[in-house]
Amino acid sequence: MCKRLGIGNEIADTNGGAGLEPAQVKGKMKGLILSGGRGTRLRPITYTSAKQLVPVANKPILYYGIECIRDAGIGDIGIIVGDTQCEIEAAVGDGSRWGVKIAYIRQQEPLGLAHAVKIAEPYLGEDHFVMYLGDNLVKDGITSLVREFEVERPNAQILLAHVDNPQEFGVAELNGDHVVHLVEKPKEPQSDLALVGVYMFDHHIFEAVKAIQPSARNELEITDAIQYLIDRGYRVRSHIIGGWWKDTGKLEDMLEANRLMLDALERCVEGSVAEDSQIHGKVVIGAGSRVIHSEVRGPAIIGENCLIESSYVGPFTSIQSGVQIIESEVEHSIILENSRVIHIGSRIEDSLLGKNVEVRRNHRKPRAYRLMLGDSSQVNLP
Ligand code: TTP
Repeated sequence: MCKRLGIGNEIADTNGGAGLEPAQVKGKMKGLILSGGRGTRLRPITYTSAKQLVPVANKPILYYGIECIRDAGIGDIGIIVGDTQCEIEAAVGDGSRWGVKIAYIRQQEPLGLAHAVKIAEPYLGEDHFVMYLGDNLVKDGITSLVREFEVERPNAQILLAHVDNPQEFGVAELNGDHVVHLVEKPKEPQSDLALVGVYMFDHHIFEAVKAIQPSARNELEITDAIQYLIDRGYRVRSHIIGGWWKDTGKLEDMLEANRLMLDALERCVEGSVAEDSQIHGKVVIGAGSRVIHSEVRGPAIIGENCLIESSYVGPFTSIQSGVQIIESEVEHSIILENSRVIHIGSRIEDSLLGKNVEVRRNHRKPRAYRLMLGDSSQVNLP
């Protein structure tokens, strides 16, 4: 049996070894994972599925978040859900699998991150909480950050990371580790410090989310709520994280997160590999899968009951269960359940294929591209 891939077990000390006591499982601090939203940037995948359930290294993104909150010693987690509530509930259940208690909080419309906090007040009450965006991944976990928050007890603590493209994020200006100003997607950013999708709050945030007005895009912005706290003299601390963090809301970031997670793989081959095939490096092949006359170059993961025949599977590829790759080449891609890639002459790269997708070459005349694509699909031909 292979060791499951996780991020929470080998958490590095991201606060530089502040010498704080490990967090205990306490009722006082809760988790709030935001798993609603529209997911417009990941259409058409999000027409039929929650983006938080897209697997990275064959594990739904949302599971990484649940695990890192659980590993920080938090046992009660509320999950904000929207139209994909049923799918998320079916995948996550009551949390007993992780040893936590999960409650679902329905957001009728995705009216912003601060709106999600507002509707969670009955669940959170007076408790401190960590708010975690369900499509984010923080490699080093959040244990030391939660611990730091519990010891320092500011009214809010935000995580920041240096980025190359601050215009695309909420951006912070600091005075020491105190935040003085936050702007959502500034045209002329005053720093390269982007807000990471993990925040810690005490109950004063409810005063803020009730006071602010919707932004130009008609959302209650969490940056505005935090700015409200700053303007009224509440203590808002920041922490610049060193390890990588990814917001997987766009395809290229999803693939990058997949690449980073696959790097942590340990080789484990449970399926069968024919003698005429080569497996190089960190490769996972699930039970019931067959690799015939093919080459698989890791890091790569292949789920259960797949068929890889006369093909090349290259680095940073995640293939879910039931997939068939026949006479084709795939690299740096994510392929979801039961899809088929057959007789493709050139290589598929940087791609995300949904469930039950079929990409195949046939020899019908006249030669032509014959497509049936859902709304917002993207096809890039060489
Ligand atoms: P975003 O990625 O900022 O928003 P989105 O999911 O609507 O995506 P897009 O911009 O592509 O349309 O949301 C970050 C996380 O927060 C994500 O997991 C969805 C969740 N979310 C909610 O739960 N409620 C909300 O009102 C919003 C805006 C987001």
